[in-house]
Amino acid sequence: MDIIGILGAGAMGSGIAQVVASAGHNVLVCDNHSIALSKAGKLILASLKIQVDKGKMTEADARTLYGRIKFTDHMSELGNCGMVIEAIVEEIEAKQIAFKSLEAIVNRDTILASNTSSLSISAIGAQLKHPERILGVHFFNPAPQMRLVEIIPGLQTDQSVIDRGKKLIDSWGKTTVLAKDTPGFIVNRVARPFYGEALRIFDEGIADEATIDWAMRDVCGFRMGPFELMDFIGNDINYAVTEVVFSNFFFDPRYKPSFTQKRLVEAHFFGRKSGRGFYDYREGAIMPEPVKDQALGREIATRILAMLINEASEALYLRIASREDIDLSMTQGVNYPKGLLAWADDLGIQTIVEKLDSLYVEYLEDRYRCSPLLRKMARSGKRFFD
Ligand SMILES: NC(=O)c1ccc[n+]([C@@H]2O[C@H](COP(=O)([O-])OP(=O)(O)OC[C@H]3O[C@@H](n4cnc5c(N)ncnc54)[C@H](O)[C@@H]3O)[C@@H](O)[C@H]2O)c1
Repeated sequence: MDIIGILGAGAMGSGIAQVVASAGHNVLVCDNHSIALSKAGKLILASLKIQVDKGKMTEADARTLYGRIKFTDHMSELGNCGMVIEAIVEEIEAKQIAFKSLEAIVNRDTILASNTSSLSISAIGAQLKHPERILGVHFFNPAPQMRLVEIIPGLQTDQSVIDRGKKLIDSWGKTTVLAKDTPGFIVNRVARPFYGEALRIFDEGIADEATIDWAMRDVCGFRMGPFELMDFIGNDINYAVTEVVFSNFFFDPRYKPSFTQKRLVEAHFFGRKSGRGFYDYREGAIMPEPVKDQALGREIATRILAMLINEASEALYLRIASREDIDLSMTQGVNYPKGLLAWADDLGIQTIVEKLDSLYVEYLEDRYRCSPLLRKMARSGKRFFD
């Protein structure tokens, strides 16, 4: 069985190391900060202890698994790895430099994989002598719990590298989907309206955060509402992703960030981790009560859902991924109660088109333009799945 190398021992690197070791591989985790390495070791041990305490794993198995993971601050030790997964800082130059150094060390057929969540795989691979070995493998946080991995070939990637990489990650018990090398890949693109449209409804004063969260949870069936989720992710992180997606899409108004969230970040109201965000988490603070008006709840839920379905349809129309992979990504990557394209079939595609068109007529903003695919399907009475 191949030795797998992990470059970068942060939140993602340590989680991926645990996934790979639990599949039986020996893992070599490399970081240029020795403190990060000891922190990663502690993180993995803590995560394994939870599994043992829950009775999901014996103590002996946890010890064996942990024994497969070695830590090093010398990149040169990654020479014998069959695949190296990079999970260092999200900066293109840092990643390009790291991959150039890696290429000089590893074997000719080693797969060089990046866990980037927003950078172009083709750009990361461009500096390599053999760019056909670059592959995007986007795990979700926390990697041991989240099933989904997006596989993103760069323009230069060889088909055999895609096949080998996918087969390997499938064998780790993950669900892999194939995505085109475009901003946000599948999940981080298709999920934008969950936050963006909720913020727009809030900004327009249609409803407050508690009511919008209630509508998305209780009327629509999502596990968390958009505002509690933004507070959970961290408004700083969520806002930064929105800004990157917006500029990477050449400022398409569909992805426009919100001043409301920007101000929260500027005030350091990051969410749960800072004690304040959209909600107040400080001791003694009282959570606002939603207005449980069913008609208002349905209005909010339909508007956000129509925008999400529009985004999923556009991703299919522009061949970012297959319809099956788009729906799998949203149910397994971000725990949506249903795939968005299957949801469109259930609600009726004509109904979604009418909702989007009514928003467009009201606002005359490009943000509300209906995906041509949805319109065509409504016209011909087709469904995404038969
Ligand atoms: N955190 C998430 O939710 C998440 C989810 C999916 C993907 N990602 C992506 O995964 C990558 C890592 O994210 P993270 O949250 O684990 O970051 P992190 O800051 O927790 O960890 C990054 C680690 O990389 C190390 N590092 C930096 N430069 C290095 C180098 N040149 N060589 C070796 N080690 C180096 C740092 O010391 C640090 O320990 C990023 O590309 C990020 O976009 C993050």
